[in-house]
Amino acid sequence: MPGLTAPSSYSQEPPRHPILQINSKEPFNAEPPRSALISSYVTPVDFFYKRNHGPIPIVDDIESYYVSICGLIENSKDLFMRDIRMLRKYNITATLQCAGNRRTAMSNVRTVKGVGWDVSAIGNAVWSGAKLADVLELVGIPNLTSVTRSGGKHVEFVSIDKCKEENGGPYKASIPLSQATNPEADVLLAYEMNGEPLNRDHGYPLRVVVPGVIGARSVKWLDTINILAEECQGFFMQKDYKMFPPSVNWDNINWKSRRPLMDFPVQCVICSLEDVNVMKPGKAKVSGYAVSGGGRGIERVDISVDGGKNWVEASRYQKTGIPYIADHMSSDKWAWVFFEVIIDIPHSTQIVAKAVDTAANVQPESVETIWNLRGVLNTSWHRVQVRVGHSNM
Ligand code: MTE
Repeated sequence: MPGLTAPSSYSQEPPRHPILQINSKEPFNAEPPRSALISSYVTPVDFFYKRNHGPIPIVDDIESYYVSICGLIENSKDLFMRDIRMLRKYNITATLQCAGNRRTAMSNVRTVKGVGWDVSAIGNAVWSGAKLADVLELVGIPNLTSVTRSGGKHVEFVSIDKCKEENGGPYKASIPLSQATNPEADVLLAYEMNGEPLNRDHGYPLRVVVPGVIGARSVKWLDTINILAEECQGFFMQKDYKMFPPSVNWDNINWKSRRPLMDFPVQCVICSLEDVNVMKPGKAKVSGYAVSGGGRGIERVDISVDGGKNWVEASRYQKTGIPYIADHMSSDKWAWVFFEVIIDIPHSTQIVAKAVDTAANVQPESVETIWNLRGVLNTSWHRVQVRVGHSNM
C-alpha cells in the first residue's frame, strides 16, 4: 500500500487519554465518561470515542500516500494528498455516532452480541477536507449522478486495516452514488479534525465522513474508492450493522433480508447524571445531548421527573448566545444539540429524556420493543434513577 502500512499486531498503537473507559483493548474501543462528553460542544479529539476493528495503520511516507479511484468509471485516477488539498476545503460540524451506542443497556434486557458501549459512542467534531462530490467530478462523475454511464450506482470505500471479521482483509463500506455526488450531503474526505491533522486513531491521513449516517460508513485510513454496480459486499455492510426484529435469533437469521443501516434515528441521552444517583432533595440540572440522522434537526427535548407521566421541555443550544432553532441557517444540521433544564427532585424517582426531530420522529418508549440480536440503534427513552435521601448525606 502506498505510504500506509497495516500492522497485524497491536504492538504499535498510539497513546490515548487516561480518561477513556476502555471497552475492548485489542482492537481498541473506548469512550469518555458521560460527564466529560458534554463538557464541550465540540468534542476534544482525546475524548472522542475510538471504534476500531483491527490494529491502527501507520503512515510511513505521506508523500507517496495516495487514494485510488477506480471501478465503473472511464478513467481511473490516483490522488495524492497534495491533489486533495488543492480542492476547495470545507469545514463541516458533524456528529459521528456508532450504531452500537447504548448497547450495554440493550444487553441488560437480553444479551446481545458485540462490544459493550455506555452512552458515549458518539462525538461532535469539526471535520475539514474536500467534498467527495468534488473528488468524483475529477474522475468525470458530475454532481447529482445516480448512475454512471457504465452502470455504477454505489461508492465503496476500502481501508487497509486488517480485520478478523474480514478474515484479515480491510474494513470497507459503501454509500449510494446519489448521496456521494450530492454536494448538500456534505460527504467529506477529511484530513483534519477540530483544526488539527487527523490523528492515527481517527484515520490519519484521510478518512471519509458521512454526516447523519451511522459511524460504520465513515471509513478511516482510506486506500481505495471503488465505483460499483451493487453495494459493497463486505462483512460490515452485509453481515453486521443491520437491524433485525426482536423475534430473530442466531438460528433463524437471514442477513440478506435486511438493508445495511444508514441514517441513524433520533436519539437523546442525559449526561449530567449516572444510571443511579444518590442526592439530597432539591434542584438538579438535567443536561445532555440530542441528535438525529439524515440532517434532521432536533425539534424538542422533553424531560420527565416521574418516569414518563408528566413532561417539561428542556432548552436547546448549539452555540452560546444563539438560541437553537431547527432548520435555521445558523444551526448545524449534522450536529448534535445540548439540552438543559433545572428541575426540582423532592423524592426518589426515575428521570426520563426523549427527543423529537424535525420530521416529528420520537424515540421509542422501551428498549424491549427495539431489542435486536446485534444490539444496534438503542434509541429508547433514556432513563436514570435518582435516590433522594433526607438525612446524613
Ligand atoms: N474504518 C476503518 N478502516 N476501520 C474501522 O474499524 N470503524 C467504523 C468507522 N470506520 C472503522 C472504520 C466504525 S464502526 C465507527 S463507529 C467509526 O469508524 C468510528 O470512528 P472513530 O473511531 O473516529 O470515532
